[in-house]
Amino acid sequence: MPDLLIRAGTIVTEHGMMKASILVEKGKVISVSQSQDTLRADEEIDASGLYVLPGLIDTHVHFRDPGMIQKEDFLTGTRSAAKGGVTTVFDMPTTQPVVTSRQQLIEKIRVIQPKATVDFALYGGAGVGNLSELAGMAAEGAIAFKTYMVAPPSQRTQEYAGTYVTDASSLYRVMEQVKTTGKILCVHAEHDNTIQYLITQLQMQGRHDASAHADSRPQFTEALAVSEALVISKALNARLHLLHISTREAVDLIRFWKRNDPAVTAETCPHYLFLTKEAFKEHGPNAKFNPPPRDKFDNEALWVGLADGTIDMIVSDHAPHSKQEKDEGQEDIWKAPPGTPGVETRLPLLLTEVARKRLALEDVVRLCSTKPAKIFGIYPMKGEIAEGSDADFALVDLQREWTLKSDELETKAKETFLFDGWKVRGQCVATCLRGKLIMKDGRIVGTPGFGHFIRP
Ligand code: NCD
Ligand code: ZN
Ligand code: ZN
Repeated sequence: MPDLLIRAGTIVTEHGMMKASILVEKGKVISVSQSQDTLRADEEIDASGLYVLPGLIDTHVHFRDPGMIQKEDFLTGTRSAAKGGVTTVFDMPTTQPVVTSRQQLIEKIRVIQPKATVDFALYGGAGVGNLSELAGMAAEGAIAFKTYMVAPPSQRTQEYAGTYVTDASSLYRVMEQVKTTGKILCVHAEHDNTIQYLITQLQMQGRHDASAHADSRPQFTEALAVSEALVISKALNARLHLLHISTREAVDLIRFWKRNDPAVTAETCPHYLFLTKEAFKEHGPNAKFNPPPRDKFDNEALWVGLADGTIDMIVSDHAPHSKQEKDEGQEDIWKAPPGTPGVETRLPLLLTEVARKRLALEDVVRLCSTKPAKIFGIYPMKGEIAEGSDADFALVDLQREWTLKSDELETKAKETFLFDGWKVRGQCVATCLRGKLIMKDGRIVGTPGFGHFIRP
């Protein structure tokens, strides 16, 4: 007998919806069928009235483990994911030590796997100092590589060590080498030189209010870095993914570029779709993240970019910091670390836009599950509900109206959350990973260590 039957839900794929039942055996979908009555399994979940989405993928999280577990660890991070309908996360390499060698990748897997409540993939960090390590990390299963185009602030150089470049020739060398591994290079596109200049100027003017952060990294600094990365990737014919795009300028550039180079991909995050610089007034240093919050017209341009395919996916860039660390920026914004948590709340925020008809539910599936799986080479194992796919599901109640509350979050960074008190419509009521329930009615029921390291 099959292990699990999800009975009579509305299955959602990027192409449409269908009322059907799903049978699962050994963690895989074995059938999706509309004739329901005769189906039997050891365990049954009644999904009538619910929508069944392929488990969400969040290809951009910082779970801080090992090395900075006061901010988050792989247990709290993956519990937070499960709560938000996310069954696969891709963790960034900026843990301690930074993942810049094969040995460090192996060691990181060893440390975090026993805490994993959802499946995970890992990025390797790439910089000019570890070009000879890239092949080894790729062979060990790194999903892709990550490079910052901007230097970290002086107090965080350790945290980003070896994974940033600050000039075009270094980016060229990194991209050239990443290409030989067959992997994608993901870049944090902010232009170093201009930003360092503007920071110095603002500091000389005595600015340390929260919005000075946004003033030090204006829209054009993203556009400059994006164009540099695009031009170099074209010259090398290398695969480029642009992380957390936040500006109208960048959307325009990417749209133009994709006409001739459709292999380029890009992502944005809820905080760029829903927040503006206004957030500094209410949230102070908690609203400090990189790239910074922008203007209303940037929000609008991103929505247009999502609708016309310029932006391929929505990720959280879950970047937790403790309240104490953030509070250091209350008097002086330069002292606060950038980043905001969000792996748990991407789905309800987007479901609310489904209720408002800005998105279709199929778009949510495409942007948060299917497209990421396809881009990073884990489709159709992930990102799909079909025979042979992993039995990863997010069961969603579209009618439920509720309020996002900081103190109900699983992340350690709950006190820094920016959407506290937001009224939302639509809730993930159960999450299933490879045929096992890992979240039910807001309670985590998954076992740490059930999450696997996945390879492309
Ligand atoms: C991230 C972090 O804290 O690790 N912060 C952020 O503001 N986005 C780093 C990053 O993704 O750039
Ligand atoms: Zn980044
Ligand atoms: Zn990030």
